[in-house]
Amino acid sequence: METQVAIVGAGPAGLLLGHLLQRAGVESVVLEARTREHVEQRVRAGVLEQGTVDVLTETGVAGRLHREGMVHRGLELRFGGAGHRIALSDLAGGRAITVYGQQEVVKDLIAARLEAGGEVRFEAEATAVEDFDGDRPRVRFRAGGEEQELRCAVVAGCDGFHGVSRRAVPAGALSGFEREYPFAWLGILARARPSSEELIYTHSDRGFALHSMRSPEVTRNYLQVAPDERLDAWPDERIWEELRARMATDDGFELSEGEIFDKGITPMRSFVAEPMRFGRLFLAGDAAHIVPPTGAKGLNLAVADVRVLARALRDFFERGDEAGLDGYSDRCLRRVWRVQHFSWWMTSMLHRMDAGDPFEAKLQRSQLEYVCGSHAAATTLAENYVGLELEDA
Ligand code: APR
Ligand code: PHB
Repeated sequence: METQVAIVGAGPAGLLLGHLLQRAGVESVVLEARTREHVEQRVRAGVLEQGTVDVLTETGVAGRLHREGMVHRGLELRFGGAGHRIALSDLAGGRAITVYGQQEVVKDLIAARLEAGGEVRFEAEATAVEDFDGDRPRVRFRAGGEEQELRCAVVAGCDGFHGVSRRAVPAGALSGFEREYPFAWLGILARARPSSEELIYTHSDRGFALHSMRSPEVTRNYLQVAPDERLDAWPDERIWEELRARMATDDGFELSEGEIFDKGITPMRSFVAEPMRFGRLFLAGDAAHIVPPTGAKGLNLAVADVRVLARALRDFFERGDEAGLDGYSDRCLRRVWRVQHFSWWMTSMLHRMDAGDPFEAKLQRSQLEYVCGSHAAATTLAENYVGLELEDA
């Protein structure tokens, strides 16, 4: 098989890249190891920055997003039994977030690609990425029980943290920066109406809790748990009990409950691979970086990467201009480290770090009070949360 751009992975990064390239008249093939059902059902986060909503809208794949997405112009920080609203849009030039499940974005992008006649091969697992130090790299993949290969001019490694693309980079050519957090998130989906108009990020002595939502009938809640926590240690009633305890307020906040129909535990880590380009291999999204979910940035960072990459590839294929490709890694890494800092900062401020360290707890409390009491500090949170307008956008 031959194409211009071989895209490994049909997550948000790979699918959006394929979509943007299609609109720019650049041919691509998306190879995805799992089935279409699996990638469309995989429960992940669900907060879209203004910039993500804008690119999906500008490129014609936001119809359902605008019908079903929930626009939020604020969020609540809750601690010491009281809630404090951060007026995101008032503080960040009118920009807002939209709550819309990541798998819904994936569904919309797959539908758009197939409708436009674009190629996405499901159950096609890439096994090797080779020759990207030359101008005719290839991706070896297994599909239908057969070993096959895809020749191309450029490979986009959008295959997530555990994918084959980053692993294809010769040792020593890549630097990894990592931080593991001593906790994880237990996340649930429940048939319960949201208990608030906006998201509630809660700091409590019992640990962090987050109240989010997917629709007027479905909520998404998270609890800080131990990194090695076992799901079977958390029967539904214990989850609701702990959410109630952590999110309790002096004015009697009521958390609405309902049937839990999805439950999972997510490890918490920060990771960055530098650089994000190796010859004709370009890494994007989780293949190059992981953020803890506290800042709701994973999906949005993947989108930011492929916006830069799609423009650079268009310039390259249209007129042989390599400036965008040469600047891709540095350009993305500026946003990646800003977002890494914000996600680490939110995580450090809101989680019970080390139960035995009262000094740490006092620092957190002071930080929370400062963010909720200072216009300048609240603006910092707001502009990072809705998505910074860096010149890469
Ligand atoms: N061959 C083909 N496909 C692969 C391979 C492989 N060897 N390895 C992984 N994949 C596929 C996975 O099955 C997955 O569908 O690559 C896709 C990677 O998608 P994501 O993990 O969603 O990564 P990305 O598109 O970068 O999106 C980042 O996803 O994990 C969330 O929080 C994260 O929101 C962020 C977003
Ligand atoms: C979610 O709705 O899944 C969600 C919201 C905010 C976060 C993380 C996840 O910070």
